[in-house]
Amino acid sequence: MQFFVDTADVEEIRSLAETGMLDGVTTNPSLIMKAGRPMADVIAEIAGIVDGPVSAEVTAIETAQMIAEGRRLAEIAPNVAVKLPLTWDGLKACRALTADGHMVNITLCFSSAQALLAAKAGATFVSPFIGRLDDLGLDGMKLIEEIRTIYDNYEELQTEVLAASIRTTNHVQLAALGGADIATVPPAILTKLIQHPLTERGLEQFLADWKTSGQSIL
Ligand code: E4P
Repeated sequence: MQFFVDTADVEEIRSLAETGMLDGVTTNPSLIMKAGRPMADVIAEIAGIVDGPVSAEVTAIETAQMIAEGRRLAEIAPNVAVKLPLTWDGLKACRALTADGHMVNITLCFSSAQALLAAKAGATFVSPFIGRLDDLGLDGMKLIEEIRTIYDNYEELQTEVLAASIRTTNHVQLAALGGADIATVPPAILTKLIQHPLTERGLEQFLADWKTSGQSIL
């Protein structure tokens, strides 16, 4: 499974990239707003830190304008994936941009029927939003499983399932179990994935016993 980080904070991305675990980055207009800097500068900087796909989202809502914005965003760096909303206009823009050879991430996916359309439109990635479904008392993880099953039923559907709107470490584990190809994870959750109290306790014990033994390896 690949890990993307869901942030436009360049310093956080730089520090996570050092772990060797980072396969890509996703941003959205809200995250760009939080970064408080021009979008083109932020995306260019991120694309220089991470080799993998960096999603940059259009804000137009009509196909021709989406295509124009998408082409502009894709010019920033070869690893930019143009992010488009799951609307008919977005799907038409997806066809045009993938025909140009650009990666496209179809975002705001909340049903397996929508995911089927995204794949038929040739999307590189589809982003089902787990957390926002859970917020409504629905089952975000069931959506991941449904999409996986549908895509696996049809060899021609090659879109990658990018589990998004992840809120907990358990979401990451369940997305992996459910067959998501990628999880895009907020930095704080990505950092937490390594934590387990038994690992910490076990290490303390080993170090204490080693000290008692009076030995040294080097
Ligand atoms: C995905 O690409 C989105 O940027 C993101 O995962 C949305 O997450 P949220 O529901 O926590 O805002």
